[in-house]
Amino acid sequence: MRNQGKSLTQFLNEGVRQGLGLEADLAVLIGEIAAVCKSLSYATRAGGLEGVLGTAGTENVQGETQQKLDVFANEAMLDSLGASEHVAGMASEELTDIHPVSAGRSRGRYLVVFDPLDGSSNIDVNVSVGTIFSVLPAPAGVSELAAQHFLQPGREQVCAGYALYGPSTMLVLTTGNGVDGFTLDPRVGEFILTHPQRRIPADTREFAINMSNQRFWEPPMQRYIQECLEGSSGPRGKDFNMRWVASMVAEIHRVLIRGGIFMYPYDSREPKRPGRLRLMYEASPMAMLVEQAGGSASTGYKQILDVQPDDLHQRVPVILGSRNEVTQVTSYHTQTAADAAN
Ligand code: F6P
Repeated sequence: MRNQGKSLTQFLNEGVRQGLGLEADLAVLIGEIAAVCKSLSYATRAGGLEGVLGTAGTENVQGETQQKLDVFANEAMLDSLGASEHVAGMASEELTDIHPVSAGRSRGRYLVVFDPLDGSSNIDVNVSVGTIFSVLPAPAGVSELAAQHFLQPGREQVCAGYALYGPSTMLVLTTGNGVDGFTLDPRVGEFILTHPQRRIPADTREFAINMSNQRFWEPPMQRYIQECLEGSSGPRGKDFNMRWVASMVAEIHRVLIRGGIFMYPYDSREPKRPGRLRLMYEASPMAMLVEQAGGSASTGYKQILDVQPDDLHQRVPVILGSRNEVTQVTSYHTQTAADAAN
């Protein structure tokens, strides 16, 4: 087997030394997040051997049944990052409220927001799952941390990333200087830089959407997908391919590797929930990664990174990936909105 390249630790140390905006505290925190992801990679891989498969018999704040691995991953993140001197507080898709840390010592400079185990319907069937994380600045001079301090638009993120537990375990992250991907070398337990500075091609012929929701979409989305399905004989003049893994981490990874457009659009099933994916735990971190790799990320009407959250668990429509294709979808939204206004 080929030998290693640069380790995550070396990469982070270099980033700090080169003064490219990567602060030493943040570099340490990223190393701490990577360490938890390694243990989650082990637990995911062990599967049935460690008794982590199946339901935990509880529900999370979203009203979804928690899997044992959801609970394990959430506790692992809270325990490990709760011991970090750089973390002031955390928010998790699995928790109702925020989780402040650092009682009795000086407060860290960062807030960490995460989906500890994304795509958990795939755990029991041994399909890729992942961990998504987002790092925001903690407010200065605040004596008691509250949910409102976490409600920052995605543009404020100082780091975003995910770990993908697939055939190999990967950590993909950005601190605002492009997107770099690292593969876990199980022989030495280190993440090694294997996918430096990913770029998403502007054009694609591959889309990802859960087609079973088609009847609930808005007209611009109906139009876009219909035109893709008409292929080379339709107005787009080219054939498209479709993929749906039902693990956002795996879908976004595919987009970062070979391009594509991923959509979980607005649908009318539950009018109070504009979409399925969560702004803070899923959409914002993935939007930062995609933009940093030259792609685009929109709700259909607005860049995801500009959406001001008003609730920790807010949901948002998501359309992201290859820039020209996202522009095509958003132009249909803009046109429909303009037609409605006239
Ligand atoms: O809740 C997040 C998630 O599991 C994503 O990882 C995935 O993209 C989506 O939900 C799958 O949704 P559905 O089950 O509706 O296809």
